[in-house]
Amino acid sequence: MIRIRFVSADGGEVREVTAPAGERLLDIAQADGQPLEGTCEGQMACSTCHVIVSPEDFGRLSPASEEEEDMLDLAASATRTSRLACQIWIEDQMDGMTVRIPPEQRNMQGR
Ligand code: FES
Repeated sequence: MIRIRFVSADGGEVREVTAPAGERLLDIAQADGQPLEGTCEGQMACSTCHVIVSPEDFGRLSPASEEEEDMLDLAASATRTSRLACQIWIEDQMDGMTVRIPPEQRNMQGR
């Protein structure tokens, strides 16, 4: 099992979950109750699955496709280590990775 740490938008809540390799990060986050809408269900058409990967862990992910980069350009509060959670499939080398929920997602949920 691969451990993934989710940090809330304000940094106040940290949750560690485990998932098998091959799972999609968006599905893992939603199963844990993280406020990622994923409105387009992985079609790279919404960016509501935007997450911020911790800079130390970013290099462990396979590079984003051009479509993903284009969509991230439109995401509010995107950073250099932003990714779309619907485009990340868990791999062994991601064990212990930290992922932060961007602030807008929290506001959309009214939390
Ligand atoms: Fe819409 Fe990821 S779920 S871009």
